[in-house]
Amino acid sequence: MGEPLKIAVLASGEGTNLQAIIDAIEEGRLKAEIRAVISNNSGSGALRRARKEGLFGLHLSHKQFIAPEEFDQELLKVLGEREVELVCLAGYMKLLSPRVIGAYRNRILNIHPALLPAFGGKGMFGQRVHQAVIEYGVKLTGVTVHIVDEKYDHGPIVLQRAIPVLENDDAESLSQRVLEVEHKLYPEAIGLFAEGRVKVEGRRVRIGGSFPNRG
Ligand code: GAR
Repeated sequence: MGEPLKIAVLASGEGTNLQAIIDAIEEGRLKAEIRAVISNNSGSGALRRARKEGLFGLHLSHKQFIAPEEFDQELLKVLGEREVELVCLAGYMKLLSPRVIGAYRNRILNIHPALLPAFGGKGMFGQRVHQAVIEYGVKLTGVTVHIVDEKYDHGPIVLQRAIPVLENDDAESLSQRVLEVEHKLYPEAIGLFAEGRVKVEGRRVRIGGSFPNRG
């Protein structure tokens, strides 16, 4: 059936999506291996979780370098050394450079806590997304897993799930329900890549039985 897909998880915050990926692997629902957890935040829950699980964890921030290119070089070096095949952004609050995106074209995923292309773009992250959803008054929000390209929250969409906004929701209650869905959807999306079932055709992502693009 082939080797587990070698992934890196890049996370800035609490790392509950990282945890969901770890759990899915441990429970045999996802055939992947986390080769690196990389965070721009040394005190992140994500790095704490990585250490607890005995995973390779690394604090890597632009602040450690004089020029942005040096950060890119170091990130690409680590991803290469760790033989990473798929990069998963899980609450990673930094935009990756075109150089990094080009090096891993169609092999970087992001999870966004809304139904893109609504409520995405620069400055739309975490609780701000849910606050904007509530203020706008939409009745449906959701989760999007997409491939990362050079623009914020823009690349081809792999999976989406809709979630109703309830009458009494505030940003906090909504974020909790959205997170629960994120924790299911991200391992599912990564699993599609692990099984070689993803084919990108322009903006459209086809999910097939099996494509001969892996293994
Ligand atoms: C998640 O809700 C994720 O979708 C969001 O940050 C949260 C991270 O939570 N990402 C974005 O808003 C990206 N634009 P976690 O650290 O507990 O996984």
